[in-house]
Amino acid sequence: MCGIVGYVGMREAYPILIKGLKRLEYRGYDSAGVAIINNNQNLNVYKAKGKVSELEAYISDKDVSGTIGIAHTRWATHGEPCKANAHPHYSSSENIALIHNGIIENYAVLKNRLQEKGYTFKSSTDTEVLVQLIEYIKVSKDLDLLTAVQLALREVIGAYAIAVLDKDRPSEIIAARKSSPLVVGIGDNEFFLASDATPIVEYTDKVVYLEDEEIALIRYGEDLKVVNIQNVSVTPEIQTVALNIGQLEKGGYPHFMLKEIFEQPNCIRDCMRGRINVEGTNVVLSAIIDHKEKLLKAKRFIIVACGTSWHAGLIGKHLIESYCRIPVEVEYASEFRYRDPVIDENDVVIAISQSGETADTLAAIDLARRCGAFIYGICNSVGSSIPRSTHTGSYIHVGPEIGVASTKAFTGQVTVLAMLALTLAKNKQTISNNEFLKIVGELMSIPDKMEKAIQTNNQIASIAKVFTYAHNFIYLGRGYSYPVALEGALKLKEISYIHAEGYPAAEMKHGPIALIDEEMPVVVIATHNGMYDKILSNIQEIKARKGRVIAFVSEGDEVISKLADICIELPQTTECLDPLITTIPLQLLAYHIAVCKGKDVDQPRNLAKSVTVE
Ligand code: F6R
Repeated sequence: MCGIVGYVGMREAYPILIKGLKRLEYRGYDSAGVAIINNNQNLNVYKAKGKVSELEAYISDKDVSGTIGIAHTRWATHGEPCKANAHPHYSSSENIALIHNGIIENYAVLKNRLQEKGYTFKSSTDTEVLVQLIEYIKVSKDLDLLTAVQLALREVIGAYAIAVLDKDRPSEIIAARKSSPLVVGIGDNEFFLASDATPIVEYTDKVVYLEDEEIALIRYGEDLKVVNIQNVSVTPEIQTVALNIGQLEKGGYPHFMLKEIFEQPNCIRDCMRGRINVEGTNVVLSAIIDHKEKLLKAKRFIIVACGTSWHAGLIGKHLIESYCRIPVEVEYASEFRYRDPVIDENDVVIAISQSGETADTLAAIDLARRCGAFIYGICNSVGSSIPRSTHTGSYIHVGPEIGVASTKAFTGQVTVLAMLALTLAKNKQTISNNEFLKIVGELMSIPDKMEKAIQTNNQIASIAKVFTYAHNFIYLGRGYSYPVALEGALKLKEISYIHAEGYPAAEMKHGPIALIDEEMPVVVIATHNGMYDKILSNIQEIKARKGRVIAFVSEGDEVISKLADICIELPQTTECLDPLITTIPLQLLAYHIAVCKGKDVDQPRNLAKSVTVE
């Protein structure tokens, strides 16, 4: 949450900063700002409430010249979204400007101390406290900026990725991180700084991912210098990123979310590439080969994740328990981290995360690691914090996901979990060869079947128009389709702001059935699999109470089409892979309802894509 960009070099900084903010806008978009030092050594700070486009409009007649600057797009933690709380924040003398992503937990204590010394504050943010603290230390102890930053950060409890500009040092940015991501891009006599590599890749593919408590000293005309907050020098590890600019653009689609839904067949092909042989007789996840003994001997798997990734984890539980006969628990990372879980070196913890930066998931990993568990990460964002904090793992390789509502990452996560379960099951000999070959064969046909599922797009767009009246939705599924129901409900909630609940269909009669009346749309995943007859009975129970059933069924189903108000046919696959197909029309349904209601699909209110605060 919150996006940070910085530039120092020979070019004008402003266009690079604004473009970078737009690429990072998925991280937060309630206010934005820039600070640029111009050639007369003036430090100009401009801020606006709202999206980056509003900042751009506000700035259009201002002086934005200068070859060094920092910029920020905010997702509010302390203080409401408004201009005063937007970053960059100034120190009292207005000599130092600072941007920050994270939370300073002890900001109140620090603020009191500074107030006692006569400092006043213009905002209600924790960030302003940090910039004032840096200035106070610098001035009162007559120190250079780097030392003042180091001393200030030693006092901070919490998470931060910061960039600091000092008017008196017009060719230098100081940047530091702890628990919030920060990447330095190294160009030809120029440097870039960002919360992830997406604003950087069009200028350079050489990056350094800062580690916790590291500080980068970025000076025009000099090599990158990295020290830690104790002032010990660190040799920066320069990595090469392979991101394609096309992946960061909408490519003719009206929204990133729609583009990402449509991309799924190819994403899943990429996800499986090199992991399943062309004959469909073998599945190889290198992470498993490298750590075979640990994984095969595990007494238990614990999956930790949040939101959509947690839903993928529920499907992972079914897959691993069914085929590997190992018990699996699925935990919300945010709950797990604050319990005192019973966990030891015989456990394998699977951490699932699209962004690889989710604070709760990172904290859960840390706890599990301290208890001796082996940690396996399933992530999308290459080089992010989670893959760097796990023992091993598998990337889902679906490309950058920009729409705030997760779509292709979910199907990528489920695909990796399926490959993981199949590989382990084969090694443990808990699956017959026939069953193994059947599922692998089906997995290989999933991208083509996804393409067919996407062809329901027009039909779903028409259905969406009918249901914009609804204030509530219920989503039902059983077995592998229950997590899909949860995911469908989450998608609808987050982008259309319609209240939606996902339930295991049989739980209806234990309470939620009281909600059913002729107004209530009930989405039912009723494909032709093991639970078909049971779900048929559940549909009858809803129809008996006049609920409006939107059913997603297998091609050729003639029974449910007579019962349901609306029936959408989908290609059939084997039960354990059904979520890879049935999720797609639910993503489309949420998308089209949100579009009909005029909502901001890619940047829904109050949300941010990368949740780096707890
Ligand atoms: C929903 C959504 C969120 C994320 C959750 C975890 O569409 O995107 O629920 O799934 O914030 O994020 P990651 O997977 O990045 O850890």
